[in-house]
Amino acid sequence: MNTEIRIFLTGASGFLGYNLMRAMSPNYTFYASEHRTEVPLPADRKIRLNLMDMARSYHEMVEFQRNANIHVMLHSAAMAQPDEREKNPDRAVAVNLEATKLLCDISRETGSTFVFTSTDLVYEKGEGPHKESDAAPELLYARLKYEAEDYILRNHPDAVVFRCALLFGPDNGHEVSMIRRMKNRIENGEQLTLFTDQFRTPLWAPDIAKAVEALTEKKVSHEIINLGGPERLNRYEFGLRTAHAFGWDNSSIVPVKMADLTHLAKRGNDCSLDCSRAVELLEWHPSPIDECLQRLKNEAPHLP
Ligand SMILES: NC(=O)c1ccc[n+]([C@@H]2O[C@H](COP(=O)([O-])OP(=O)(O)OC[C@H]3O[C@@H](n4cnc5c(N)ncnc54)[C@H](OP(=O)(O)O)[C@@H]3O)[C@@H](O)[C@H]2O)c1
Repeated sequence: MNTEIRIFLTGASGFLGYNLMRAMSPNYTFYASEHRTEVPLPADRKIRLNLMDMARSYHEMVEFQRNANIHVMLHSAAMAQPDEREKNPDRAVAVNLEATKLLCDISRETGSTFVFTSTDLVYEKGEGPHKESDAAPELLYARLKYEAEDYILRNHPDAVVFRCALLFGPDNGHEVSMIRRMKNRIENGEQLTLFTDQFRTPLWAPDIAKAVEALTEKKVSHEIINLGGPERLNRYEFGLRTAHAFGWDNSSIVPVKMADLTHLAKRGNDCSLDCSRAVELLEWHPSPIDECLQRLKNEAPHLP
């Protein structure tokens, strides 16, 4: 497919934004919003936006979207740290819910497809792998994502929600990846405590780019779709696999239970994802974990 698709990305400076901008096919021309961190795009392809102040930016955003003739708005900006959000609930509501609703309205008004990145943390009850109908969020972050999803699907005729698993991949050094956090601790001689009692399906972040491309090519719409990796692992197992790939000494990786870390907001025990819907609708398949860890070790400029 050679047609140019103009995509407006919020959260372009974040971990996922960085991976999307690197991994998407050159048919996609990126436009973006910029908040605290500079986004590496020409000035005429970006707009300053604070999601806390979204209502005031509404008309300027509509004009920007119209002038750029945006085809897809991909909303990935968020307060993305669960514990930060529990401590600042008002801010979390403004950024993760109210601003999302307004962006959804802008996208509808200007005729673009709206893609929203939600989370596997909406699956807090029961054992995985979870299908899309299993959501039962309790954590504030997850509840806000779930409410935002509901608003989007009720108010936008051409929207898709991706419920993304825990992501790993290269980072831009601003918003650090979990692998860089692990590496930093190990290199500083600190203990790395990782949960043994929370199961996830870690996903190679660039695989989300493949899903976005597939949905625009196949014109999939009005769907909630899980995007998770091919294996159900707990964080501790993922840490050991990462240490093995990177050749780290794993003696400082300490298994813990979530219940032992009382300062953290409580998460679900099994947030692993069943991705058969993504396979069926998008012909999307996640990349093998060990292969991706090896690729990260060989390719990422910022990691050893
Ligand atoms: N990373 C994961 O494992 C994971 C898993 C599942 C779902 N997700 C979802 O994927 C999306 C991206 O996550 P991420 O890991 O890329 O997050 P991140 O690295 O923390 O990036 C957050 C982005 O949001 C922007 N942002 C934050 N507050 C803002 C505000 N008030 N106004 C405008 N922009 C603001 C940040 O820009 P500045 O730095 O300039 O403020 C940054 O670009 C989120 O919706 C997250 O919930 C992530």
